[in-house]
Amino acid sequence: MTEAVARAHPNLALAKYWGKLEREGNFPAVPSLSVTLGGLSTTTRVRFDAALTADRLVLNGAAVSGTELLRAVKMMDRVRASAGSSLRAEIVSDNDFPTASGIASSASGFAALALAASRAAGVDWDAARVSSEARESSASAARSVFGGFVELAAGTPSARQVAPAGHMDLVVFVCVAGEGKKKAVSSSEGMRRTAARSPYYRAWLDMAPRNFADLRAALLAKDFEKLGELAEASALAMHASAIAAGVVYFGSVSLEGLTLVQRLREEGTAAYATMDAGPHLKVLTREADAAKVRAALASLANVSRIIESRPGGAAEIVQP
Ligand code: DP6
Repeated sequence: MTEAVARAHPNLALAKYWGKLEREGNFPAVPSLSVTLGGLSTTTRVRFDAALTADRLVLNGAAVSGTELLRAVKMMDRVRASAGSSLRAEIVSDNDFPTASGIASSASGFAALALAASRAAGVDWDAARVSSEARESSASAARSVFGGFVELAAGTPSARQVAPAGHMDLVVFVCVAGEGKKKAVSSSEGMRRTAARSPYYRAWLDMAPRNFADLRAALLAKDFEKLGELAEASALAMHASAIAAGVVYFGSVSLEGLTLVQRLREEGTAAYATMDAGPHLKVLTREADAAKVRAALASLANVSRIIESRPGGAAEIVQP
């Protein structure tokens, strides 16, 4: 086969990955645990073609060059090495969620690319190998290979599922911060600066594994309140360590959103906030409170849209 199409979903880290081990191969310094976001996906077609002299990448309808293309080419080089092939490929990738939505497309993108490229090249990679190759491109992508609730231990090659999508009643709202589009510092660069300059980086490295273990236990016990508290604590500690290094992803939506969910909790509604490498707010709640929480979030200023998601499935090959 010289062509394959794969689909993968983005994921939201409940226990955050922030910081890398000082060794080759993009290994996280802390364990992380995410939920795969159903209803949102990246679909990637890879076609090897003897007529091509270089890999081509078309992302959401536009040809890509520079460092973005290079990251994909590095993945393709690993696939070619594994297949013993020198053929170049055309990669066409589309996200069905908005690019500036606060949902990183690199996770679903590299999970879908690793799966589609290996299948198109005829190499028989299992899910663990696909996850490991996706991690080398972007560590959060290792988690998007699996569905439901997924962990990536520090220093290990691949992610693995902790519980399937149906394990827990969970609704995720992504509140897209529509305010000024300042160019965000990439996750990799933000991590590098945090490790180099933050007086609280060591505290983060110390706290994250305990937070992860407690969150994992809360997940297995289906204790939503505990899970939510720990997810919010992980995000706040990650951001605190980054902010102390001058890496500030928080914006007005993050701050107003945090205040709002804390007020909701005081009023008896279980809702918890988390944030990643951008100002967008993500809120965790349960089915029974979803409508109420959504209505409350709609009152936030500077939110351009609210995306609703529930735990989703694994990356998979779809019909070309
Ligand atoms: C804040 O996976 O984008 O979303 O491995 O350098 O590509 P690289 O980083 P990336 O970092 C994700 C950081 C995060 C937290 C998380 O998803 O765990």
